[in-house]
Amino acid sequence: MTTNDLDSIVESARQAFAGAPTPAELENAKALFIGKAGRITELMKGMAVLSVEEKKTRGAAINTAKQAIEAALNDRRQALADAELDIQLKAEALDVSLPGRLREPGGLHPVSLTMERIELIFASMGFDVADGPEIESDWHSFTSLNNPPNHPARSMQDTFYVDIKGDDGIPYNLRPHTSPMQVRYAHAHIKKFADAVKRGEPMPEIRVIAPGRTYRVDSDATHSPMFHQCEGLWLGENVSFKDLKVVFTDFCRTFFESDDLALRFRPSFFPFTEPSAEIDIQFQSGPLSGKWLEVAGSGQVHPAVVRNMGLDPEKYIGFAFGMGPDRLTMLRYGVNDLRLYFDGDVRFLRQFR
Ligand code: PHE
Repeated sequence: MTTNDLDSIVESARQAFAGAPTPAELENAKALFIGKAGRITELMKGMAVLSVEEKKTRGAAINTAKQAIEAALNDRRQALADAELDIQLKAEALDVSLPGRLREPGGLHPVSLTMERIELIFASMGFDVADGPEIESDWHSFTSLNNPPNHPARSMQDTFYVDIKGDDGIPYNLRPHTSPMQVRYAHAHIKKFADAVKRGEPMPEIRVIAPGRTYRVDSDATHSPMFHQCEGLWLGENVSFKDLKVVFTDFCRTFFESDDLALRFRPSFFPFTEPSAEIDIQFQSGPLSGKWLEVAGSGQVHPAVVRNMGLDPEKYIGFAFGMGPDRLTMLRYGVNDLRLYFDGDVRFLRQFR
């Protein structure tokens, strides 16, 4: 074996290293030359048969070759590591000149905006704001409101029932209107009435609105199975239908910020009011000009309901109404499909921010 042969081993090692595309393949290539059974190792073993003099020169030459191979190996290791780092850096590169992702300010849902507005306007007219359960007893949703079981008026509302029965054996329902709040609110404040009577004071009035969610088996562009209502109730010694007209007209003009608005009280039927009326409004200008739109049911509270409140219908009279905030929101903002309220599409919602 000559120095030339060693040179060619070094050269083929260099080529093998250069051709190894990954660190694992490079280590395999290394084994061929300086591993336990590598070519250089084999040459070292072969020296055993040489004379002392020959061993010296031959050993030195093999060592030089081995060092050259190790140097080439280390160069290639470094090159592969550099390349890998390079790929990693490129992949994780941050473009610090990119603008940040803006956090847009949120906003209230259009129906919530309407609810707030309704509460504000009625509060300014001295109305309390009350909240009640959405899962109701049959008595509160119907019977207390002069609408007993099997009464045909029950079919006015396609009610959802719940799998839980009340004390009366009748299943609870998802309240189909906010009207149960009339009796609930009166019961919650009955002590106030009794105390006033005891002290010989003038009778306190009930003046309350109860906004909230309501449910009916109904679904199209203007009806959603979950919708909103706002109940209104004003009971006192001498509260008449005339007061209903004044209060509701005032409310509508304030809500729509327009005096250019006509109201119509169209005779109707509800078991819990007598007489009853549906309230329509008509815009005198703008895109809805001329059209009559129903916004509420209303009427003088039926004596049977006043009795169920625990009050004397000979002393307490007044009116109630139930209006649809979803409808009011559609009119105020020109929304044509109520289902948009519940889709959660930000392109719709951000318009109300
Ligand atoms: N509760 C009635 C409805 O949902 C509306 C209404 C409320 C009517 C109060 C009269 C008085 O249709």
